[in-house]
Amino acid sequence: MKDKTIAIIGAGNLGLAIYKGLENGGIANENSIILTKRDTSSLEDIKGNHVLVTSDNSEAAQKADLIILAVQPAQLPGVLEGIKPVLDPAKHTIISVATAVSIAQMTAIVGEAFAVIRAMPNTAIAVLESMTCIAANDHAGGKIEEVQKIFNCVGKTMVIHEEMMQAATVVCASGIAFWMRFIRATTQGGVQLGFDAVDAQEIAVQTCLGAASLLAGNGNHPESEIDRVTTPSGCTIEGLNEMEHHGLSSALIKGLVTSYERITNMKKK
Ligand SMILES: NC(=O)c1ccc[n+]([C@@H]2O[C@H](COP(=O)([O-])OP(=O)(O)OC[C@H]3O[C@@H](n4cnc5c(N)ncnc54)[C@H](OP(=O)(O)O)[C@@H]3O)[C@@H](O)[C@H]2O)c1
Repeated sequence: MKDKTIAIIGAGNLGLAIYKGLENGGIANENSIILTKRDTSSLEDIKGNHVLVTSDNSEAAQKADLIILAVQPAQLPGVLEGIKPVLDPAKHTIISVATAVSIAQMTAIVGEAFAVIRAMPNTAIAVLESMTCIAANDHAGGKIEEVQKIFNCVGKTMVIHEEMMQAATVVCASGIAFWMRFIRATTQGGVQLGFDAVDAQEIAVQTCLGAASLLAGNGNHPESEIDRVTTPSGCTIEGLNEMEHHGLSSALIKGLVTSYERITNMKKK
């Protein structure tokens, strides 16, 4: 992707993390970036060659080819209504990272002819390790690849059907909280076994990274990696089975399903 203008409307936590990813991934060098928020004083340091900072969403949208909407879900309809007069389906791709705002809700405002894409990253975007699930309408076509290039700068992407977006929100965005709790529990266990809290957390975090990297590197099933560290009659299998007797896997699955039911009910209201 070259010589495009990317506007990030709502340069808050997520919007700024996407911008940093564009800088680090080299996309900002070959394209122009516009950042907007109502109060731009926090963006003073960013103003520069290829970055325009403004509080005028319409100015940003008019100049942009790709418009990334990173405002809160409740603010999204108002922002879209505001930029609608300058939008052109032949020029603009509309990308939203807002949770639970559907493509149909957005096209109801801007019109059916637009390429509209939803992206669901997670907070690991700040360290360029997000998992971002992407869903698009029928008009998006080749634009999906451009959007993947943007989010590949801040981790990995996967294109999914929009009906899977709620599941993606649970596994991918809420998933960060679930893994944090798992790491916290491992840390607490380490403290009980005699490590101080700082060392216990460092060991837990690096071991978690190592486990994930093993699977990311070799694509193995987790159980085959478990087989490598479980000596028959050994301490690992005994600890693992004790965790399962107390419902480890079942608790995780039930938690995911409960979150999914909650997000589904929230959407219906
Ligand atoms: N955090 C996550 O894990 C996560 C994951 C996936 C998706 N999301 C979604 O990402 C979106 C942003 O989340 P966030 O955590 O980055 O929120 P945030 O930090 O509150 O950022 C939103 C930004 O929008 C700006 N804004 C508000 N109204 C605006 C307007 N009319 N025009 C231009 N800018 C405006 C705000 O700045 P001003 O007040 O100065 O305008 C603020 O900086 C949400 O929709 C959320 O659902 C978040």
